[in-house]
Amino acid sequence: MVESHNARVRNDLTPWWKHGTIYQIYPRSYQDDNGDGIGDLAGIVKRLDYIAWLGIDAIWISPFYPSPLADGGYDVSNFVDVDPRLGDLATFDALVERAHGLGIRVVVDIIPNHSSDEHPWFIESRSSRESPKRDWYVWRDPRPGGSPPNNWICIWGGSTWTFDERTGQYYLHLYHEKQPDLNWRNRAVQQAMFDVFRFWLDRGVDGFRIDVAHAIMKDPELRDNPPSTGPRSHRDFGDFDRQLHVHDRGHPDLHRVYRELRPILDAHGAMAIGEIHEYDWTRWASYYGMDLDELHMPFNFGLLTAQWNARSVREIVDSIERALPKGAWPNWVLGNHDEPRIASRIGDAPARVAMMLLLTLRGTPTLYYGDELGMRDVPIPPERVQDPWALMNPDKPAFNRDPARTPMRWTAERHSGFCPGETEPWLPIGDDVAAINVQAQRDDTRSMLSLTRALLQVRRSNEALSLGDYAPIEGVPADCYAYERALPHSNAVVVLSFADEPRELTLSALRDMRVAASTHMDRDDLSKDGHIVLRAHEGCVFTP
Ligand code: GLC
Ligand code: CA
Repeated sequence: MVESHNARVRNDLTPWWKHGTIYQIYPRSYQDDNGDGIGDLAGIVKRLDYIAWLGIDAIWISPFYPSPLADGGYDVSNFVDVDPRLGDLATFDALVERAHGLGIRVVVDIIPNHSSDEHPWFIESRSSRESPKRDWYVWRDPRPGGSPPNNWICIWGGSTWTFDERTGQYYLHLYHEKQPDLNWRNRAVQQAMFDVFRFWLDRGVDGFRIDVAHAIMKDPELRDNPPSTGPRSHRDFGDFDRQLHVHDRGHPDLHRVYRELRPILDAHGAMAIGEIHEYDWTRWASYYGMDLDELHMPFNFGLLTAQWNARSVREIVDSIERALPKGAWPNWVLGNHDEPRIASRIGDAPARVAMMLLLTLRGTPTLYYGDELGMRDVPIPPERVQDPWALMNPDKPAFNRDPARTPMRWTAERHSGFCPGETEPWLPIGDDVAAINVQAQRDDTRSMLSLTRALLQVRRSNEALSLGDYAPIEGVPADCYAYERALPHSNAVVVLSFADEPRELTLSALRDMRVAASTHMDRDDLSKDGHIVLRAHEGCVFTP
């Protein structure tokens, strides 16, 4: 009695984003409500019951703002409105209200690094060199001879500078030329963007996912990046990988911005999770702030880019745990709208083990929609490609992010209940839909969906799994990984096999513990003597 009372008190005192789980929704792909083949906010509202049933604590909705869609909505032409194709502000308000009624928090995506070139700010900025908004973006004269002001390149290749004939200067865009970078060294820009945060806070949102959070400040002198001889990115980004991105990303002045943003968020009890592509864990950890006064969490993409074997996965977890500043709270991700789906990357059976890992590590998990069904990348016929990265690099299929952005599957009917059967969905649904849809998996006690839901339930009922300390357990076979999660009054032990064959383990930590969830969803045995046989790619969560 006393124990569960304590647990409750502790839960109330712990901010939701520490013990909760986040579910990422790509709004154009979740549920089409009005039958035009594009997912919308009203569709999300209809599916909130499902999200609550699954056991999720918060949804993060990728951009739903007005946009010319040069980058899937990450090119925003109005930061404080809803794209009419996706709904309106009243629907957004209804979404927040309904979500809150179900105990689900709402996190929205904020894109501070750039706007669309069709945003009124940029239209004004581009109109003349004397425009009061000229300095809201980064304009520079050509170098003698007419070339771009420096050597910076876009992630998919090509200069980050586009020449504007009318005023004879180049403007900066780290991404698409239709996504000009805002000049955060101009205080008015910071003010305007902080007002965008306030706008959504006033509408009741609980947090923000900050796009490209590691790049909003650049070198004030815009110096050339030096060449890189070090390791490449996890994907081959060609010329981009041949530079050290020291002047276009990760500038130390970023920290000042986040320190100034933090009180605005704290005043509303809201949290910020920033997109930080930084794989030097010490530098990554700096985004928490020296006094934990910057981002609540910088996204940790360690698992997203990991080589999938027991040793490297454990190494990443241990390095993150070591790098964290005192009191900082970790977070974990297996997939998002920019990366191949986990089931395609590592395989169906390992993806179940990965889900167990994600939901039992110390730190807030972010779960990408559809991964709870084991959705795989869907092949996109060339004529249906939407992603600008792919359109600009037709010879590099790995650049295409559409395969991981295809519609959520609700049923096995034509178009999976995502949109009416007679409407063409904006991206293809895929062929492997018979077993990979909510309806089929709901009734199957061993499905990926049942596993995900069971793990979320175990996580909720055993607080050590959400809030407990993490300690790796030694003495397991090289292709297995085991760890304990512990609070003073409760604990859990997780054992994961990455092997293609059965593995035997004997661990004193398992003595008298019972399987509370297995990736195979078919056992609840008690380990009296600490011995267990794991089948190929099996993981088990043990609780007392
Ligand atoms: C982030 C988004 C990605 C987008 C880019 C530019 O990396 O996740 O989808 O293309 O920013 O906004
Ligand atoms: Ca629609």
